[in-house]
Amino acid sequence: MTLQHPITDAATLTDLFQPYTLGSLTLANRIVMAPLTRSRALAGDVPGPLAVTYYTQRASAGLIISEATQITQQGKGYVQTPGIYSAEQIAGWRKVTDAVHAAGGKIFIQLWHVGRISHPEFQPDGALPVAPSAIKPEGTVYTSQGKEDMVTPRALELVEMPGVVADYQRAAQNALDAGFDGVEIHAANGYLIDQFLRDKTNQRSDIYGGSIENRSRFLLEVTDAVLSVWPPERVGVRLSPLSAFNDIDDSNPAPLFSYVVDQLGARNLGYVHMIEGNTGGPRDTGRDFDFDSLRKRFPNTWMANNCYTREMALAARADNTADLIAFGRPFISNPDLVERLRSNAPLSELDPTTLYGGDEHGYTDYPFLNQAQD
Ligand code: PHB
Repeated sequence: MTLQHPITDAATLTDLFQPYTLGSLTLANRIVMAPLTRSRALAGDVPGPLAVTYYTQRASAGLIISEATQITQQGKGYVQTPGIYSAEQIAGWRKVTDAVHAAGGKIFIQLWHVGRISHPEFQPDGALPVAPSAIKPEGTVYTSQGKEDMVTPRALELVEMPGVVADYQRAAQNALDAGFDGVEIHAANGYLIDQFLRDKTNQRSDIYGGSIENRSRFLLEVTDAVLSVWPPERVGVRLSPLSAFNDIDDSNPAPLFSYVVDQLGARNLGYVHMIEGNTGGPRDTGRDFDFDSLRKRFPNTWMANNCYTREMALAARADNTADLIAFGRPFISNPDLVERLRSNAPLSELDPTTLYGGDEHGYTDYPFLNQAQD
């Protein structure tokens, strides 16, 4: 008689917890820590010692994507977010990347320009924030004075565009100098690149507005500038075709994002990082949009994100709808999220009051499984 061993643990059947080859990098598993703003940078927007601890605690992720990091002061829109344009910032990040590598992890930096989602308080000389078009976002911004209305931004002049692209190139070079394994270009969530892509925020009549090709031009110029520094396998792009986050929309997202994904594929980019639905939920926007057909257009790694659970991640691998799954909020309150998902252990709850700003509380003091069991 042959003994039957019923396999009760889904983790033994899936490749979610197995190594994954991303270009020349070997990731320890297919679970990614998504970029998460925590607003704890030190004076000068420098990541400090607590950031070193925070990221190192999460180094068992197959890949960490850093919190969104502004490429210039003009790209800043929130209190205490880190930058990657000064020598002090590069040195601060170098301590993070060294510690993550020593712990066996891999880390990309997310390159960020918020565009109109800013306030003169954050801008050089108190200037207006910049955007493709002078359209005021609905919403408020947290300044040092508290909650304030957003302002009407200034439309970037055509002659300024090469300078902004060059800012991304310099930041990409700085990221290399800071020891990152790669860069993710933030083209999602209603920030500057997304403001160019989508037609609610881009009403330009020059070569950066109007047609799909024109609205994609800025993203592709930024991508090419980053590719002048990094090999394509070390570059990813984050997109959110349906997300209304930061008061953005597009009248016809399917052809726009099909074109974008085709162009990124033609450049042999390492990965596309896709936010499915509204950022942070709900995943269902009520719009008809086929993420899987978008995925099939792209030749390389597909990273899926947005409110994934363990079951959804296992299903995504079983159905092969994504190569990598990025988890956001669960990584904040579970530094050992990979181990918890693997062993199907309970997750600890996020404290929303310590998400942004503050000290180590709610940042580096979430328990590991072995501590929780003490
Ligand atoms: C945020 O700070 O709330 C934030 C930053 C970047 C994102 C999304 C949200 O892509």
